[in-house]
Amino acid sequence: MWLRLPVKYIMHTSEYTFSKKKVSCYYDADFSLLAGLVQDKNIVILTDEHVYEHHAKRFAAWPVIKIAAGEAHKNQATVDHIVQELIKRGANKNTCLIGVGGGVVTDITGYVAAVYMRGIPFGLVPTSILAMADAAIGGKNGIDVGLYKNMLGTILQPDLILYDYSFLQTLPVREWVNGFAEIIKHACIKDALLFSVLERYSLHDFQTDQTLIAELIEKNAAIKSGVVTADEFEKGDRKLLNFGHTIGHAIENLHELPHGHAVSIGMVAACNLSEKINGLHFNEASRIVKLLAKYHLPVDIETNHEKVFEVLKMDKKRREDGIDFILLDTIGKAGIVRISLDELEKHFKEIL
Ligand SMILES: NC(=O)c1ccc[n+]([C@@H]2O[C@H](COP(=O)([O-])OP(=O)(O)OC[C@H]3O[C@@H](n4cnc5c(N)ncnc54)[C@H](O)[C@@H]3O)[C@@H](O)[C@H]2O)c1
Ligand SMILES: [Zn+2]
Repeated sequence: MWLRLPVKYIMHTSEYTFSKKKVSCYYDADFSLLAGLVQDKNIVILTDEHVYEHHAKRFAAWPVIKIAAGEAHKNQATVDHIVQELIKRGANKNTCLIGVGGGVVTDITGYVAAVYMRGIPFGLVPTSILAMADAAIGGKNGIDVGLYKNMLGTILQPDLILYDYSFLQTLPVREWVNGFAEIIKHACIKDALLFSVLERYSLHDFQTDQTLIAELIEKNAAIKSGVVTADEFEKGDRKLLNFGHTIGHAIENLHELPHGHAVSIGMVAACNLSEKINGLHFNEASRIVKLLAKYHLPVDIETNHEKVFEVLKMDKKRREDGIDFILLDTIGKAGIVRISLDELEKHFKEIL
């Protein structure tokens, strides 16, 4: 196998220490262990209709609040519905809200738990690749307001995160692909070995080998946890996680792309830009393009460059006349580089 011998995986725990909380991560756990892990609290499950449809039996022991699936429902109306349901069930500080689902469910769970009665305990059981490798970790939560993504939110760490990889058996293939964009991102910014592991295997290998996917998710959770424990409130290194997201977000909205697709194209643009900026000696864009394509992610797009540039100028990472970009020195090592709008405009048609 990859980093270890192919022994049968058994549940093991890692603790990540944040400013206000220790988060316990239970890797390769079975969902049925939840009751034992949350002994002194009343569990309420929050999930979406797709996850419920496939896994309802697993929730039979607890009250379940079900929400409509998808980003379009990550909003205040859904929060209002959840709050009404919590009140109906008499939920209070002795309740532990457990979000079981993709990033939409984990983001809403954290947000509701942060504001309901000024804060109740909560835990996350991520069920998509994206939520396992990224969204469930780091404490950022929130909802969208109209077209503005994550406009309302807090940073609050969950009490626990439980990883049960058997949920992935029902995840549609397009969601696997989506999640791998963030995994490739982690490799690009932090881990050259992970990058070469991804080159060696294929999406099909990860979909069909439980040990391989377990190691991959755990590795990615460790990378993200490492970055966010070192910089919980995004003063420095946590910004590296935005690799591919500046141009990615601009085209995501304009072209209504799935997030992973937009980030993939955004990473290619950031790699091309890394090659063009004086002082960086990056020359591995083509290797990254090849890996993204191998995982069925798009690497370019027909777009209106003027329109994308307009959106970029509005980006919240823009300062005075420049934008902070995450660029690569080498695969596995990223940095923050301020690029003036003039210089960006000069290269723009060649990088995207
Ligand atoms: N908080 C953070 O740090 C952070 C980081 C990255 C992304 N996010 C957020 O995460 C969200 C995207 O997450 P996502 O891609 O998981 O989206 P999602 O929650 O919409 O899930 C994608 C689809 O997969 C379905 N699904 C999930 N697990 C399933 C399973 N096991 N079986 C069958 N269907 C399943 C969902 O119902 C949905 O239809 C965005 O809202 C984004 O803003 C947050
Ligand atoms: Zn992302």
